[in-house]
Amino acid sequence: MDLNNRVVVKTNDGSDSLYVTEIDEHYHSIHGARSESEHIFLQHGLAFIDLPEITVLEIGFGTGLNCLLSYKYAQDNNKIINYHTIEKYPLTCEEWGTLNYNTLLGDEYSAFYKQIHTSLWNISILLEPNFKLQKYNADVAEVTLPEAYFDVVFFDAFSPEKQPELWTASIFHSMYKAMKVGGVLTTYCSKGIVRRAMKEAGFTVNRTPGPPGKREMVVSRKV
Ligand SMILES: C[S@@+](CC[C@H](N)C(=O)[O-])C[C@H]1O[C@@H](n2cnc3c(N)ncnc32)[C@H](O)[C@@H]1O
Repeated sequence: MDLNNRVVVKTNDGSDSLYVTEIDEHYHSIHGARSESEHIFLQHGLAFIDLPEITVLEIGFGTGLNCLLSYKYAQDNNKIINYHTIEKYPLTCEEWGTLNYNTLLGDEYSAFYKQIHTSLWNISILLEPNFKLQKYNADVAEVTLPEAYFDVVFFDAFSPEKQPELWTASIFHSMYKAMKVGGVLTTYCSKGIVRRAMKEAGFTVNRTPGPPGKREMVVSRKV
């Protein structure tokens, strides 16, 4: 499968996204990439962690939209974020340069957007006093994660129809082990097979209303 064959599309809230022709799949909801990301990963992820310093694990760095919005969240809420993200198929410079994310949040965030894409892979970099980034160019099914380390997991792989191998109890168990007690895993997918796999991995699983255009999403906790 060639998941590197992508085209830029505009979503309904004006923010760009990508469409992967080979698997007929978008990177974000066509109802709004930014609104989806804010709803799922900020409001139902970061906002649940009542700590001054939050350690995040993202599955699928992709366009960097979740990372960019997390930095804005850190600025707006006076938080420190340690952002770890795993990506098997990084975008090209031409691709991330074409997306409208460098202007999405105004001029003050455009340099940060460039930095997250140009920073080196596989090392930890302090991009801002309150934001450390570590990008891993790896397959999530193959990485070894530290134990009891992350406060939040942004589970943002392609859908279980397109990538069933990533929505298994075994993958969720590796997330569970890597999370601290009290940690939250948030994702856009609420399918029964996914919720059952999460429960089997040890999570307490809750469905909650999704972003525009999506009835439900899932927030799972390590209690
Ligand atoms: C739905 S997109 C979301 C990407 C990103 N969070 C964003 O907002 O642009 C899924 C992402 O998972 C990545 N991905 C797919 N398979 C992967 C794997 N086995 N390991 C790590 N990343 C993977 C894709 O390349 C893509 O960037």
